[in-house]
Amino acid sequence: MKNKTVFICQHCGAHSPKWLGRCPGCGEWNSFIEEVAEESQAEYSFVPTEPLLYKDVKGAEKKRAETGIKELDRVMGGGVVLGSLVLIGGEPGIGKSTLLLQVSRDFCLKGEKVLYVSGEESLEQIKLRGERLGVSNGDLYLLAETNLERIISQAEKLKPQIFVMDSVQTIYSAKLSSSPGTISQVREVTNQVFRFAKKNQISSFLIGHITKEGSLAGPKSLEHMVDVVLYFEGERDHSHRVLRALKNRYGPISELAIFEMETSGLQAISNPSAFFLKERPKDETGSVVVCTIKGSRPLLAEIQALVSPTLFSGNPRRMTIGLDHFRTAMLLAVIERKLGFGFAGEDIYLNVAGGLSLDEPAVDLAAIMAVVSCLKNKAIPSDFALFGEVGLSGEVRSVNQPLARIKEALSLGFKTIVLPKGNLSQLEKENIADVDLAGVGNIKEALGIIF
Ligand code: TYD
Ligand code: MG
Repeated sequence: MKNKTVFICQHCGAHSPKWLGRCPGCGEWNSFIEEVAEESQAEYSFVPTEPLLYKDVKGAEKKRAETGIKELDRVMGGGVVLGSLVLIGGEPGIGKSTLLLQVSRDFCLKGEKVLYVSGEESLEQIKLRGERLGVSNGDLYLLAETNLERIISQAEKLKPQIFVMDSVQTIYSAKLSSSPGTISQVREVTNQVFRFAKKNQISSFLIGHITKEGSLAGPKSLEHMVDVVLYFEGERDHSHRVLRALKNRYGPISELAIFEMETSGLQAISNPSAFFLKERPKDETGSVVVCTIKGSRPLLAEIQALVSPTLFSGNPRRMTIGLDHFRTAMLLAVIERKLGFGFAGEDIYLNVAGGLSLDEPAVDLAAIMAVVSCLKNKAIPSDFALFGEVGLSGEVRSVNQPLARIKEALSLGFKTIVLPKGNLSQLEKENIADVDLAGVGNIKEALGIIF
């Protein structure tokens, strides 16, 4: 087949048979680059070509292997599925190579053969990292190579149980003339590794760097080509890292794991709530503890508010870190209208301690009370924890998983929990001792109980 060329937008991946100055898909200028058209689709299919009766399709029981890192296994739904391709995305320096070298180390300890391919670092650099992580002398093979075809042929010779490629942006296929890291290269590499993993039933991990826009480089099109997409994130100034699943063909995507980067690698944080509350100031105004849900797990976090007079009158600042900006603006309007506070001349800052980001409406009540605490200059008792969604009329609405939230707060010794009335009535049959459950129907009632 004669190779045709096609123009692909390097920003969004749109195709065009001829060069365009501006992408009709995403509106980006000068983003089209000529690339070799992908080979015919037939090469990519290895499923039966004839339709099968539903009842004749064999059971979907999947064999999984545990990685040795419990938290990672949980995020993947109980270990890595044999022959699956897992893409791990994250910003440079977040700890992707560290995580996968730890995974390689643990597989080796179980006597499995691992091939770790790096297109970024020399063997010495990898070994240096391995020494920090305590890699022992098991069946761990390293390969510093960037040519995809050579890598695959080496891997097929070695036949490892686990295959790691670091990173998809540095490897290139000789089939294409474009340089590594371009969309077509990144796709071709992912495609070939996917076929390699399926054909040989080798569980494979692919590292991908995240672009500044926050999407996996070689945009979203990479995500649907793999079985599992994990996203590794964290703040540069904080030691904790959050790993979550964006996509999982073999399990839920709601799970999340929290690690801490230490001198000897990533350590799972077994009690995240205690971790995020450990430096909480006691009896300070503007600080409140919220019972939130991250993934399927409850988590306690601290929301802080600060209200201070605006320097430049007429243009007060509304800043949020870790909370949705628009939702917060709405909540501030509710405070003004429904509680009668005026803060036209005040700057308002809201922050979630520890660099966490909370994106569920169940944190509304806590965010409001943090601001009110500042406005009234009164601290919220430090053994109070709150949750509840707040509507535009100031009503406090029920949220999901109230029991899990309460239990988490109980386990850390909180004595009073302010929650939606609706949730309280759901919990009548539950036997909850040692804690005062205060159900509220609107934010005025919450105010009465808290202050
Ligand atoms: P790395 O895994 O190289 O990140 P990525 O592959 O995502 O680019 O890890 C980067 C940082 O982690 C680096 O700044 C050093 C730090 N680090 C530790 O703090 N402790 C360790 O044990 C290791 C191996 C790395
Ligand atoms: Mg790396």
